[in-house]
Amino acid sequence: MRNVKRNILLTPGPATTTDTVKFAQIVPDICPRELEFGQLMESISTDLTKIVADEKQYTAVLLGGSGTAAMDSVLSSVIGEDTIVIINNGAYGQRMCEIAEVYGLHFIEFVSPPDNPVDLVALEQILNRTLNPISHLIVVHHETTTGLLNDVKAIGELCNNYKVELIVDAISSFGAVPIQMEDMKISYMIASSNKNIQGLPGVSFVIAHKQKFEGLQHVRRRSYYLNLYDQYKYFLQHNQMRFTAPIQTLYALRQAINEFMLEGIEQRYTRYTQSWESLTQGIHRLGLNHIVAKEHHSKLLTSIIEPICDGYDFQKMHDFFYNKGFTIYPGKVEKLNTFRIANIGDITHHDIEAFLVLLEIYLRDIGFPLREAVITYESKQE
Ligand SMILES: Cc1ncc(COP(=O)(O)O)c(C=O)c1O
Repeated sequence: MRNVKRNILLTPGPATTTDTVKFAQIVPDICPRELEFGQLMESISTDLTKIVADEKQYTAVLLGGSGTAAMDSVLSSVIGEDTIVIINNGAYGQRMCEIAEVYGLHFIEFVSPPDNPVDLVALEQILNRTLNPISHLIVVHHETTTGLLNDVKAIGELCNNYKVELIVDAISSFGAVPIQMEDMKISYMIASSNKNIQGLPGVSFVIAHKQKFEGLQHVRRRSYYLNLYDQYKYFLQHNQMRFTAPIQTLYALRQAINEFMLEGIEQRYTRYTQSWESLTQGIHRLGLNHIVAKEHHSKLLTSIIEPICDGYDFQKMHDFFYNKGFTIYPGKVEKLNTFRIANIGDITHHDIEAFLVLLEIYLRDIGFPLREAVITYESKQE
């Protein structure tokens, strides 16, 4: 196997992958309608389900498309004519609202601060209404805008009390933060192939109880391509996706799941957490701060407040790192200048430490007053 240049993606997905995942795409040409390929997809669906639920009762419907395709599919296939609540505490909650608007859904936008937990008392007041009761509530588990981890278990309890179905976008938490759908009262969970599961982009999926998928046949279709019931039913009957499957991405996903199973979710989250501890200690030592307190943080992605310094320019900082094999990400928090560093994918705290050495050099170069820079590039080179 040839070595592929190793780039460190400190972006919130697509994340750095192993060479074995990359090379798993190199397979003989195959028609996705072949039995063998159906069996591959079936094994992927079963193993993805096992991560969060009992695979005998629940299933994962696979879709060709990025995470937003699965968001679109759920909103256009699950929601009837009733009112729903969408928690908006970041860019992905906002995206849910935008999709709901496109489909003309009746929704209440529950706006919540991007860096603090959801006010459950205020949320309960909305769920408690008797006129036009709420049918579904949508929340993003890990708001990738900030690193805020929403308390899905507490929100699930509330939903359960008011017979509201809970839909969770777990795109950036699945495969790292342990989730148990039944225990957390989640009816539908959305995720994708290219974040913590460490596969390549192009596949997203929705996990739910098989009875829930069956029930969707009664919901008015709003999308042809992304209808969740049709995709579920077709796979059940034919072991195939309705339309051309992203074949090579699925082979890579199979390999990524094998590697995930070898590592185990706890070890994976421990590895990620170790990287996060190195990152946050390092940036604080250099005089930078991040938003979201530790107890509410995913430890997967950090939104760092940009250095206040005349020489600072995000694009130039990006290019400085990019030329050295590290990709960093711009911020997305409204009214706050931030940039983002994720610590997911096939990386370790050693990669984060190498990033911090370079960050110190960059900050020195632009004249940023370092708080207490104890690492020096020269000492690291020895
Ligand atoms: C929480 C969350 N939801 C949705 C998305 C959208 O996924 P995609 O960019 O794969 O469409 C992302 C992507 O980062 C995300 O982090």
